[in-house]
Amino acid sequence: MVQSYKHEPFTDFSVEQNREGYLKGLETVKGYLGQDYDLLIDGERISTEDKIVSVNPANKEEIIGRVSKANQELAEKAMQAAVKAFQSWKKVKPETRADVLFKAAAIIRRRKHEFSALLTKEAGKPWNEADADTAEAIDFLEYYARQMLAIKDGVPVNSRPNEFNRYDYIPLGVGIIISPWNFPLAIMAGTTVAAIVAGNTVLLKPASTTPIVAAKFVEVMEEAGLPKGVLNFVPGSGAEVGDYLVDHKDTRFVSFTGSRDVGLRINERASKLNDGQIWIKRVIAEMGGKDTIVVDKEADLELAAQSIVASAFGFSGQKCSACSRAVIVEDVYDQVLNRVIEITKEKQAGNPEDTSNFTGPVIDQAAYDKIMSYIEIGKQEGRLVAGGEGDDSKGYFIQPTVFADLDPEARLMKEEIFGPVVGFTKAKDFDHAIEVANNTEYGLTGAVITTNREHIQKAREDFHVGNLYFNRGCTGAIVGYQPFGGFNMSGTDSKAGGPDYIMLHMQAKTTSEMY
Ligand code: NAD
Ligand code: ALA
Repeated sequence: MVQSYKHEPFTDFSVEQNREGYLKGLETVKGYLGQDYDLLIDGERISTEDKIVSVNPANKEEIIGRVSKANQELAEKAMQAAVKAFQSWKKVKPETRADVLFKAAAIIRRRKHEFSALLTKEAGKPWNEADADTAEAIDFLEYYARQMLAIKDGVPVNSRPNEFNRYDYIPLGVGIIISPWNFPLAIMAGTTVAAIVAGNTVLLKPASTTPIVAAKFVEVMEEAGLPKGVLNFVPGSGAEVGDYLVDHKDTRFVSFTGSRDVGLRINERASKLNDGQIWIKRVIAEMGGKDTIVVDKEADLELAAQSIVASAFGFSGQKCSACSRAVIVEDVYDQVLNRVIEITKEKQAGNPEDTSNFTGPVIDQAAYDKIMSYIEIGKQEGRLVAGGEGDDSKGYFIQPTVFADLDPEARLMKEEIFGPVVGFTKAKDFDHAIEVANNTEYGLTGAVITTNREHIQKAREDFHVGNLYFNRGCTGAIVGYQPFGGFNMSGTDSKAGGPDYIMLHMQAKTTSEMY
């Protein structure tokens, strides 16, 4: 009997044994730094001349590993392997498919600190953020396995006398999984296994800055007993391999998580019919955010300031859910802003292996340059009150940065920066605050800090985001507790970690028999 689902607890690093466990994980990772990783196609490891080199964003000199790079010919080979494997995998019992996920969860749980330490090295995640990423990956495995078991015998529908109706979910076919670097384990693993447990076969194209953790996850899935051809690992260039696979006639669905522009490109290309294609491709696209914390005048202002800082600067603001806008009712604006400045000045970006640093680097030179250019824009648009400095000599470090007195129409308040930068704006009253909060093309997360119950109700109805939180920050959704996904340009609202997520990777079939 499968135990009921409970999310994986976070590690308390004030406990000496846990600190030692993490440091041991770091030693394990150091032992395999710089190695080469192959593609995996139909169970066969394939090495290419052309490699993606993964480096530590906190220390550019340190190579995490090199991963073979797929070209279109290898992508085609992987597609044919997935097409073939689908014929047998779709017939494997859902219980057996779920068992692969349960075993993979157990393997990752046993190697939890090693995976977290790898996330620190490859993505620059501080210990707590890395631990949360690993825990979320375990949660996705545990949760989606149970979701598959819950629908394995179909969903009840009515039958009349002498009639037997059934409503069953069957898999779709071959899926292309395209994942981002910011949750390089959790989102990559979650999107992959949701598709697989539903009976599909997949090609996984991980983000090019974080392919090693993906390669390690693929090894875990093999160890957990996944048959060959079900999960094919094809790191490569988005433009070359990504476009090729999205366009392919045999692609049945694409599960993408990443930026708005790439998501829109995939959606457009997937809508075109190619020679030999006999279906409308399904696209799951989870995209960017421009997330707001609203602070009411009737509120716990210390909670407000702490929530803004944690949501804006955790993992250097590189979360789709990060708070990049604080909209404060004018009566309490100065109080909240001053407290945020105070707390921010205590938070430092530095090497994430050292736990005295609150946050680590940003992911690469392109991200560093983009964020620093937004900081320059911010200096024109508002008042720089904390941070603003960057240093890319050793790694890509940007100090937590606060801009005050921005116009709600400012670029800093509208465009996704994806870095440790938060902008403050003043609202006349609570209604105005919600109006400003909705004033972006995105709609992913938001939070409201208030003790006024009528205002909670108003925000419930009018604050148009997929994940709305009260009296807490706007990051940190938990699988199975706060299903995650957004509105408008934040994507298709597919709600990762939610009860209907795996159904998005399936199609419903009605059968009706007369007795
Ligand atoms: P990105 O869009 O640059 O890349 C995402 C993936 O798409 C990568 O694997 C990349 O190689 C691939 N890609 C690039 N061009 C492609 C193409 N033409 N065809 C197919 N694939 C292509 O995003 P990123 O920088 O990795 O991640 C950050 C972005 O992701 C932010 O905008 C963030 O808000 C968003 N994000 C959203 C969610 C969510 O759940 N809504 C979660 C995490 C990240
Ligand atoms: N699921 C992640 C969060 O909620 C992105 O912060």
